[in-house]
Amino acid sequence: MAIHVKNNIQWVGQRDWEVRDFHGTEYKTEKGTSYNSYLIQEEKTVLIDTVDHKFSHEFVQNLELEIDLKKIDYIVINHAEEDHAGALAVLLAKIPGTPIYCTENAIDSITGHHHHPEWNFHTIKTGDSLDIGNGKQLVFIETPMLHWPDSMMTYMTGDAVLFSNDAFGQHYCDERLFNDEVDQTELMDQCLRYYANILTPFSPLVTSKIHEVLGFNLPVDMIATAHGVVWREDPTQIIHKYLEWADEYQEDRITIFYDSMSNNTRMMADAIAQGIHDVDPGVAVKIFNVSRHDKNEILSNLFRSKGVLVGSSTMNNVMMPKVAGMLEEITGLRFKNKRAGAFGSFGWNGGAVDRIHARLTDAGFETLLGLKTKWKPDGKALLECREHGKQVARQWALHPLESVDTKQAAPVNEPLLNEEEASQPDVKAQASTACVDAAAGQSMLCSVCQWVYDPVLGEPNQDIAPGTEWSDVPETFLCPDCSLGKGVFDPISDEVAA
Ligand code: FEO
Repeated sequence: MAIHVKNNIQWVGQRDWEVRDFHGTEYKTEKGTSYNSYLIQEEKTVLIDTVDHKFSHEFVQNLELEIDLKKIDYIVINHAEEDHAGALAVLLAKIPGTPIYCTENAIDSITGHHHHPEWNFHTIKTGDSLDIGNGKQLVFIETPMLHWPDSMMTYMTGDAVLFSNDAFGQHYCDERLFNDEVDQTELMDQCLRYYANILTPFSPLVTSKIHEVLGFNLPVDMIATAHGVVWREDPTQIIHKYLEWADEYQEDRITIFYDSMSNNTRMMADAIAQGIHDVDPGVAVKIFNVSRHDKNEILSNLFRSKGVLVGSSTMNNVMMPKVAGMLEEITGLRFKNKRAGAFGSFGWNGGAVDRIHARLTDAGFETLLGLKTKWKPDGKALLECREHGKQVARQWALHPLESVDTKQAAPVNEPLLNEEEASQPDVKAQASTACVDAAAGQSMLCSVCQWVYDPVLGEPNQDIAPGTEWSDVPETFLCPDCSLGKGVFDPISDEVAA
């Protein structure tokens, strides 16, 4: 049933208490979610977004209790993903021809999902507006890659409500709609979980887009998201949180995760954690077994951490599969300004630690040397693990560690391997941030979609001739794959470029 939001705006969405999986099974929605749709009844009647396709019929049925559907003048679709545009087919079967306002990319996506190219689409661009009467307008703001190419926000003048869609939302279901009504700890936990697991790769865009929106100097009285709460009390608090999270966020926290065949790698994890605590009792150390803990919770902790230690037994000379899966996901999330290290127990070779080390380095972490223990760690090996933890604490300290006996401290990057492992050639000191300096011939990587600008090739489709250095590429350049500007490009490392 509808909930009054402000003046002539009503919430007409759908709660989903029981959903536990999102994006396939990749995101666990432990608190359920909601699909927020809004009905605006000014001189014109506007529907902002719909709900997940599985609730299409309930949504339209409930909407008919609020309004004669034929009175809807416009539909605005801020995002084409099926949890927001999913009910369009059932709705438009009742009111065919109703204008749909969305981005050009959304038309492609909506048509791809619903196969109705004849729908009455109207393409919007940033700054376009729609007069809805009573002196109010809807102003559109494209937000590509936050988090899909089609994403946009809609701002309603007069009432100063920003319909932000996924941005600033959370997978959080509560009978109460407004942020000031719900449990604040639960709310912020879910906000961070959502950001960490979904928006982290797009942090550079989050910052630039928020500043672009703030640059309009529009008052914001409410932020009406597409999932979870409507930010009514101090709505800009979540904007400030996003700016904080987007700025290479970290706390004085270390995440350790591992998988362990015979409990040996787990013993190492515990001893390393003790070593960290010995030297720096102030740092929060969180330990997870990837086979037993919620993956999104681990990633949320990694997001909050200054560094991560990843452990695995060696199995068939490689790491255990669940650890490999985590590393793949971590690579995609493109964390910035974090440190990492590998550890693990082995029997006749220690391939897992080498591979974890390489993957962490490739993912952009500043890595320290790996730590291997043969078979089950004995007392001496556990002391080595504990000493390794002490070194981690010293090297990653965010504050002076006055109580540390520095005479005991090993030099930075000194390997903590026993002689047998140290003789193996494949664990070496490596500079993990081997980006080449910006110079002639520098290739550039789009941090959002991974498209590579190669100066040898230029970008002929934008009249950028072969041989054009990045510094000479005009500011109007847009990434051919994701349509974003030069600001999201980073120098590419030699290794990636090779
Ligand atoms: Fe809530 Fe990107 O869908």
